[in-house]
Amino acid sequence: MDQLKIRGGRPLEGAVDIAGAKNAALPLIVASLLSDHPLVLTNLPAVTDVETLIALVGSYGVTVSRDQAHRVTLDARGAFNTEAHYDVVRRARATMLVLGPLLARFGTARVSLPGGCAIGARPIDLHLKALAALGAEVAVDAGYIVARAPQGLTGARIVLSSPSVGATATALMAATTASGETEILNAARDPEIADLAACLTAMGAQIEGAGSHRLSIMGRRSFRRAVHELIPDRVEAGTYAAAAAITGGRLELVGARLEHMAAECEVLERAGVRLFPTDRGLMVEGRGRLAAVDITTSPFPGFPTDLQAQFMAAMSVAEGACMIRETVFENRFMHVPELMRLGADLTLNGTNVLVRGVERLVGAPVMATDLRASVCLILAGLCAEGETVVNRVYHLDRGYEDLARKLVRCGADIERVRP
Ligand code: EPZ
Repeated sequence: MDQLKIRGGRPLEGAVDIAGAKNAALPLIVASLLSDHPLVLTNLPAVTDVETLIALVGSYGVTVSRDQAHRVTLDARGAFNTEAHYDVVRRARATMLVLGPLLARFGTARVSLPGGCAIGARPIDLHLKALAALGAEVAVDAGYIVARAPQGLTGARIVLSSPSVGATATALMAATTASGETEILNAARDPEIADLAACLTAMGAQIEGAGSHRLSIMGRRSFRRAVHELIPDRVEAGTYAAAAAITGGRLELVGARLEHMAAECEVLERAGVRLFPTDRGLMVEGRGRLAAVDITTSPFPGFPTDLQAQFMAAMSVAEGACMIRETVFENRFMHVPELMRLGADLTLNGTNVLVRGVERLVGAPVMATDLRASVCLILAGLCAEGETVVNRVYHLDRGYEDLARKLVRCGADIERVRP
């Protein structure tokens, strides 16, 4: 298994091209199943989770054609209904998002339960409740979700007990073909949900309220050919912003959108980092040692849980102490013991970590456990003395396009090796 070897201590300088958003791409790919017209997606990130989802819809008879990098045409004209096997679903949880579109298009769906993952139990009860509210019979049988709506789905009011991103996507996609109007209350307001709504609208759906807590959808049975450009990846952009901050460097994040990154930019500014928009995106300028800042993750527009690990790495070398609270996932601190191997002073207590900033980190071999934890260790390695070796970097490939090459272009001393 590949490793990344990092020799730290160099301020990063230069420009980084921000790819399309992985967490926008995944629901958009399965949304293609709703329509019997082609859907063209552009600005698609070249990451393994996207390939897994494209292979999955391909197994449903969707014709996949690629005429340019970062662009795919998904034609579900000849799609047929089949089972989403456990082997596929366990590779990428987002595959279970096929449930909504399959039920909406074919009136039945059989999809493996995704099970838990490194960061939490991740139940899907809100997805199932939303489909039941739209009139589907939903049951769990031998590890599979079995959903049926032979007469089609019926518009309804869906109140989500928490603004789950996935459950909002499931309800939104299913409601596009339900008869009559659907209201989704306490919907997720994430930019990726607004991007999904924009794409579905381009396909012919009638949706209001994208980006707000209240979505209204008027169901319809026919769609049209659509071309949709993905929004930039705010988590990738936030990761490079943290890399500039932790190395005291200066990076222009080409394509990044400040309006998607308010919470994390506010934290960086309080930590002493200078940020300003440029014609091409966002400039991030580290200015000496960071100041420690408390961070609490929460649903968008709160501080993103997907940046918690990266910002913990930055705070581990800050001046002073701070508290980092994780409120979205119950087990998202797998990176804590690994950061401590590099000399970080962290005290884990339930959903809180007390971070006492240290003068310096020292390189060591560490183990990646999930996507964001792996990039957190790379950031720590970029500022550590000596060499850090990050193992199991396949986690990284799931959500970061060309990370090592992008960092090398900005002056990092990092290489990918196969031991
Ligand atoms: C999406 O996951 C993202 N994944 C996650 O990014 C991200 O961390 C998360 O949203 C929160 O922002 C994709 O978009 C593919 P949720 P999702 O449903 O949809 C609980 C990354 O690193 N919940 O908003 O699964 C759940 O357990 C990944 O790119 C229920 O209890 O997140 C969690 O505690 C990791 N019942 C909370 O809600 C449900 O039915 C938020 O989950 C659904 C969720």
